[in-house]
Amino acid sequence: MNLKQHAKEHLLKNLNESGVFVDFTMGNGHDTEFLCSVAKNGKVYSFDIQEQALQNTKKLLDEKGHSNYELILSGHQNVKQYVKEQIDGGMFNLGYLPGGDKTLHTMCDTTLKAVSDGIELLKGGGVLVISVYPGHDEGRREGEMLLEYLSKYDRKYYSVMNCRMINSYDSPFIIAIEKYDK
Ligand SMILES: C[S@@+](CC[C@H](N)C(=O)[O-])C[C@H]1O[C@@H](n2cnc3c(N)ncnc32)[C@H](O)[C@@H]1O
Repeated sequence: MNLKQHAKEHLLKNLNESGVFVDFTMGNGHDTEFLCSVAKNGKVYSFDIQEQALQNTKKLLDEKGHSNYELILSGHQNVKQYVKEQIDGGMFNLGYLPGGDKTLHTMCDTTLKAVSDGIELLKGGGVLVISVYPGHDEGRREGEMLLEYLSKYDRKYYSVMNCRMINSYDSPFIIAIEKYDK
């Protein structure tokens, strides 16, 4: 399964050129770059706790010629301090910065706060996609916590989907949350 491709396909249904999107885990900027390239006339907010992530991402976005973004050096649990408008979609790619310090990874408490706030910020029709990596301890805990927490969302207003390989339980998986447009 190509996880990234699946995550993008979920989001693509709702991506529009003038939309507002959030990359909750900037990392090296690949997802931010993807969102900037789709929301050409819109805006992308992108969060990370590491200065290194902002530097790598700024370099990538400059190379690609994007200017429709705001890079924020803060935890995604603070999203509501920075994003004051409703959003069309968002991406989480949990875990640690590839090639960086593996001890600086996403954590259950802050991930839960960010996901819950992200859902509150969604417009009708908007989608959040979360890529989960259960191959390490905190990733496994994040996955279990999110599946339990999100299964309680009212199905009248939200669809919450889990896409995973059932013959490889440690493999990364996706959770997609869509807020119905009504
Ligand atoms: C797997 S990487 C993201 C990869 C990225 N999407 C890309 O395209 O390169 C996860 C990132 O989450 C960041 N992170 C960890 N805790 C965070 C938090 N509370 N808020 C925002 N980012 C956080 C890490 O620093 C790391 O860069």
